[in-house]
Amino acid sequence: MKTYLVTGGAGFIGSNFIIYMLDKYDDVKIINVDALTYAGNLENLKSVENNPNYSFVQADIRDDKAISEIFAETQIDYVINFAAESHVDRSISNPDIFVKTNVLGTVNLLNNAKKAWSIGDDQYRDGVKYLQVSTDEVYGALGDEGFFMETTPLDPHSPYSASKASSDLFVKAYHDTYKFPINITRCSNNYGPFQFPEKLIPLIMNNTLSHKDLPVYGDGMQIRDWLYVDDHCKAIDMVIRGGVDGEVYNVGGHNERPNIFIVKTIIEYIKENVDSEVGEHMIKYVTDRKGHDRRYGIDPQKIKDALGWYPETCFEVGIKKTLKWYLDNQEWVKNVTSGEYQHYYDKMYAGK
Ligand code: NAD
Ligand code: DAU
Repeated sequence: MKTYLVTGGAGFIGSNFIIYMLDKYDDVKIINVDALTYAGNLENLKSVENNPNYSFVQADIRDDKAISEIFAETQIDYVINFAAESHVDRSISNPDIFVKTNVLGTVNLLNNAKKAWSIGDDQYRDGVKYLQVSTDEVYGALGDEGFFMETTPLDPHSPYSASKASSDLFVKAYHDTYKFPINITRCSNNYGPFQFPEKLIPLIMNNTLSHKDLPVYGDGMQIRDWLYVDDHCKAIDMVIRGGVDGEVYNVGGHNERPNIFIVKTIIEYIKENVDSEVGEHMIKYVTDRKGHDRRYGIDPQKIKDALGWYPETCFEVGIKKTLKWYLDNQEWVKNVTSGEYQHYYDKMYAGK
């Protein structure tokens, strides 16, 4: 039995990861540590909450006492750090919390894991590992050609990506300085169930269903490389089990699409399946995001060659599955879009 300390497990990718792992393995224990910020939602984990191999601790990853107590009480084998402030637009209006959570929180986790796993000077218990869940945004932006490789220099532009690049560098520094066992994964844009509707796909889905404007930043020709969330979960599982100590693995499925294509795909799906009144007339081109990265594209060859990873869900199938999930889970959408979300939405999109 291996015990995973999963942070941020009540967020979008974290909760999908926990469900994926508990579904796949009987010999895995998961402790989910999440502060339950606006983005964390225990409703996501209803299907596993009574699983004897799952437990939840509400704590902030910056809280040294809370994190050290978890390590003192349980022998942890792996730490997977999903916990983060994850939304680029929020980082533009309020960068400070991104430094606190993403940088200081990561360093607190590293310190606690290092202390708990240490068996001598720069030596650690066998089989332990810290995995930092990072993003392709640390590489900056691409022009029309080329892809991000693990060797691409870090060149973050937004406060969000700067905070993620900083945390990656701390993880690397702990490996280089203390021989602390780590991997870093850098994934492209995820989509799937439980994504908070501040992000493009669930936001456009929700607005289309409620006949609101569909805000497209700038000319809508920015390109993102979309990956179904379970394929990201599979990659993390494989890196934990087979990743070479100290290595970075890029994760992406060569699914590059301009934002306007995503928006039109969602409109078409709702028009066909739910409401014939919706249409492209609802699209509203609004002021561009400051410092908006033009194109992301991952080269996933390293993880394919080294670990045999490949994406299983193609975009055409994944997007339909995702949009159907949101239609079937309107109660979930209603719960997460009440309260704080309304304030955020009104402030973010007012005057655009
Ligand atoms: P999310 O915003 O949906 O979830 C973040 C989770 O972290 C929430 O449950 C929140 O409550 C928790 N959290 C925030 N601050 C915390 C703190 N101080 N202590 C403990 N918990 C805290 O994010 P997501 O989209 O699921 O992303 C998860 C991770 O994956 C992030 O590190 C993000 O940078 C990375 N990532 C995301 C994507 C993507 O497309 N969403 C792609 C690549 C990498
Ligand atoms: O690339 C991985 C990253 O993907 C992750 O590290 C981040 O945590 C995650 O949030 C995501 O970042 P993006 O900024 O790419 O995702 P977002 O859904 O916010 O936006 C996707 C694209 O759509 C982006 O080019 C901005 C645009 N957009 C977004 C919103 C919310 C719009 O045009 N209109 C919108 O209302």
